Amino acid sequence: LVLILDFGSQYTHLITRRIRALSVFSLCISGTSPLKSITDLNPRVIILSGGPHSVHAPNAPTFEDGFVDYVEKNGVYVLGICYGLQLIVQRLGGEVMVGEKHEYGRMEIVVERACGLFGNKAVGDKQAVWMSHGDEVAKLPDGFEVVARSQQGLVAAVEDLSRRFYGLQYHPEVTHSPQGMETLRYFLFDVCGINAEWKMEDVLTEELKVIQAIVGPDDHVICALSGGVDSAVAATLVHKAIGERLHCVFVDNGLLRYKERERVMETFEKHLHLPVTCVDATVQFLSKLKGVTDPEMKRKIIGKEFICIFDDFSEELGQKLGKQPVYLVQGTLYPDVIESCPPPGSGRDHSHTIKSHHNVGGLPKDMKLKLIEPLKLLFKDEVRVLGKILNVPEGFLKRHPFPGPGLAVRILGDVTEGNALDILRQADEIFIQSIKDAKLYDSIWQAFVVLLPGNTVGVQGDQRTYGRAVALRAVTSQDGMTADWYDFEHKFLDDVARKICNNVRGINRVVQDITSKPPSTIEWE
Ligand code: XMP
Repeated sequence: LVLILDFGSQYTHLITRRIRALSVFSLCISGTSPLKSITDLNPRVIILSGGPHSVHAPNAPTFEDGFVDYVEKNGVYVLGICYGLQLIVQRLGGEVMVGEKHEYGRMEIVVERACGLFGNKAVGDKQAVWMSHGDEVAKLPDGFEVVARSQQGLVAAVEDLSRRFYGLQYHPEVTHSPQGMETLRYFLFDVCGINAEWKMEDVLTEELKVIQAIVGPDDHVICALSGGVDSAVAATLVHKAIGERLHCVFVDNGLLRYKERERVMETFEKHLHLPVTCVDATVQFLSKLKGVTDPEMKRKIIGKEFICIFDDFSEELGQKLGKQPVYLVQGTLYPDVIESCPPPGSGRDHSHTIKSHHNVGGLPKDMKLKLIEPLKLLFKDEVRVLGKILNVPEGFLKRHPFPGPGLAVRILGDVTEGNALDILRQADEIFIQSIKDAKLYDSIWQAFVVLLPGNTVGVQGDQRTYGRAVALRAVTSQDGMTADWYDFEHKFLDDVARKICNNVRGINRVVQDITSKPPSTIEWE
């Protein structure tokens, strides 16, 4: 196991992903975790991430006192990246000072000594790297040697061969460090002697065993399918493990996309062979949303309704089976788990609620059902690989994410007013179909149409119209945490705008959202 200690860098997830991409299992926990959480995992290698702090800041996050003793006694290899390196230097008796020369962005480093981190290559080799630091290493602890420096002469890479400590002042995990992946490979395989043997097939075998061990022979399990990849893969996995004792429910809340219910139900039944109960709760949801315009209110109402429906489903099933279901399957992914325990002061702690996200509607605290979260150690792209092994159809695996509150957060204002839902569905279908026809669907993380509030003046067929405006939103992203807007060709946009105005009665204007996240979010509400 390669364990990443997170000190708050925005790139920490990326380190975990890069290492897994090298077929080595890696996990990430908060850098301030108790030593016992580290020793329990018995890692062969520990990587200390970067972070936004200075090691001199009051309450700068750090590892517990016994950490150095533990790694030395147990022959654990340690690599510090940026803040991680500075922390090692400071805690082992060296000096870090507030730098006069900040290094941000693309820089060049020069190798000064043959070192395993660079494949023992010739001294004098240069490489471009991505830096982002204000503090600098001023004095190394005893036993450490500088192996590379930046153009400005600052320490860029260090090693202490005998104690197995290594450090990089730059970020090898980002693509802007083109040889960064090579460095991680040299470090894991040549320096630490790790084997590349982590495969998704093994994850599947292991997960099946775990589920079969947890769920008793008479226990029943329920799962709410959203139509998205995560819940579908989680359900397929659990179905493989326990067969007919898994009961799935799909809720039509009236906020779904064009023909979504039919499309999703067909995939579940025909291609995934999953037994699914479809609950039509359109009236229930829309009556509760009538007149509601506040985004958070919408989200809370929807979340609550989901739980009610879910409880009813569980209750009815219990009566039918003569036994209450014991477990609930959730498609929770690894980023959700990491995000829920970031190091204090990292800037990633959830002190501000941006949006109340719901998978199945947010779960009540006093829930009787116990959770099974078979994907909770995986990233989205890994879930897609697992889904492929489980024969989940490719088209389904590549679906864009769709939020639990559905079109309610894509209609600014009252969702139930007039034919808002209907015209949004039509415009959205035209946009998505055009993206598919142009073979752009797989290059885009998510695309959708947003219905804007109020009316605008247009002229259609020589007549004045006073209709609705819609915004096209399409973004690229790795994990939905940050996103960039997708730059379509003008011809494509022109076609889409024309098709929407010509085919959807009530819409006379189309605009495009060209903000990234941050400062925006992907959804508009
Ligand atoms: P934002 O809008 O926060 O969205 O940038 C990031 C990603 O999360 C999706 N999203 C949700 N997914 N329940 C979900 O399951 C929700 O309540 C929810 N809100 C946003 C969004 O579509 C994007 O992929």
